[in-house]
Amino acid sequence: MEIKQEDVMTIISAGIKAPSADNSQPWKFRPDRNSIHVSYDTERVGMFFDSALTATYMSLGAVCENMRLQAGKLGYQVDVELHNASHEARNPVFTLHLTSAGASPSPLADAIATRMTNRFLYRRDMPIEASALTGIELSIERDTGCRVHWTSDGESRKKVMKAVMLADLVRFTQPQIHHDFHEKLHFGRDAITSRDGLAAATLGLEKPLLPLLRLLKPWPVSNALNRLGLHYIMAWRGGWLPMWAAGAIGVIVAQPETSCFAMGRALQRVWLAATHAGLAFQPFGALPLHFLRLRELAGAGLTEHHRRRLTQADACWRGAVNAPADQHLVMIFRLGHVIRVPEQSRRREESLFLQ
Ligand SMILES: Cc1cc2nc3c(=O)[nH]c(=O)nc-3n(C[C@H](O)[C@H](O)[C@H](O)COP(=O)(O)O)c2cc1C
Repeated sequence: MEIKQEDVMTIISAGIKAPSADNSQPWKFRPDRNSIHVSYDTERVGMFFDSALTATYMSLGAVCENMRLQAGKLGYQVDVELHNASHEARNPVFTLHLTSAGASPSPLADAIATRMTNRFLYRRDMPIEASALTGIELSIERDTGCRVHWTSDGESRKKVMKAVMLADLVRFTQPQIHHDFHEKLHFGRDAITSRDGLAAATLGLEKPLLPLLRLLKPWPVSNALNRLGLHYIMAWRGGWLPMWAAGAIGVIVAQPETSCFAMGRALQRVWLAATHAGLAFQPFGALPLHFLRLRELAGAGLTEHHRRRLTQADACWRGAVNAPADQHLVMIFRLGHVIRVPEQSRRREESLFLQ
């Protein structure tokens, strides 16, 4: 069966709409007759949070899910071929084979274009309907090794919030993470022209805080202010307050041996299901990405003090959802009814993604 070229480009465009840590967009696409090969972009990987390409593989999982859903919407049957993780640049991580027509589209495909990270505060007074929570739980396909848990009471919610707070205290006191974040941060027109990284306008911060953020870019300034407690304020505003003002807090947990790619697929399905239910969504990636650094790189770059905080955070999130010691944290996220919709984060020119 001949695949239309415009359909191939529509499927690639859907892939490009996927989330990536700090909007790094580290992907390359190579169409090849009825297949599309997807690899990572060597020039856009390797941040501190991307230990051994873990964040990159998670975002590739999200790309795969978007492409698979979009292809299904166009009526194609899709096979995903996963290649051995050779970590060899230019080798595809996965190939999407479009085989025949007649697939039944998933409603999640309709959420690809509007899915976004909403970092504004949500309506705390409006809990999420049980049917929406069930729909989100069921969006993860059964054999993926991943599952969504909800914080069921005030106590478990507090524990997850504490875990996120501790992860942020580590984040704001690690110089390389500080450097990566400020490199990715763009203000004003710069954000519009670069179509890359984090636009300050999408951070959900009050306008007067944005110039302050700019002043904090030199590490010696932030580091000196951290001694006066700046990192507590940052962690409170960046994680604790948004979680407090959320309709629900979820935790995605994975069985041992689940790959980062599979985790990314599960995360994206949950995110699309939340969007489909009309809910705002924000992931809190620092904690799982710190844990992946501990696992993959023995925590290189983290101090003893950081490690102690992460051990405490580990006990908090596990206690909140009764996760056994061998299961892994995929993502903590918050959901809510929208108060304000941010502008959508941009993507680079499509031709730059083609190999
Ligand atoms: C692995 C991973 C970790 C992330 N961690 C965070 C996070 O800690 N906080 C946050 O606000 N967004 C986080 N994000 C969301 C990205 O910043 C976001 O997807 C990217 O900026 C593109 O914006 P969009 O999701 O609105 O398209 C994460 C995304 C991924 C894939």
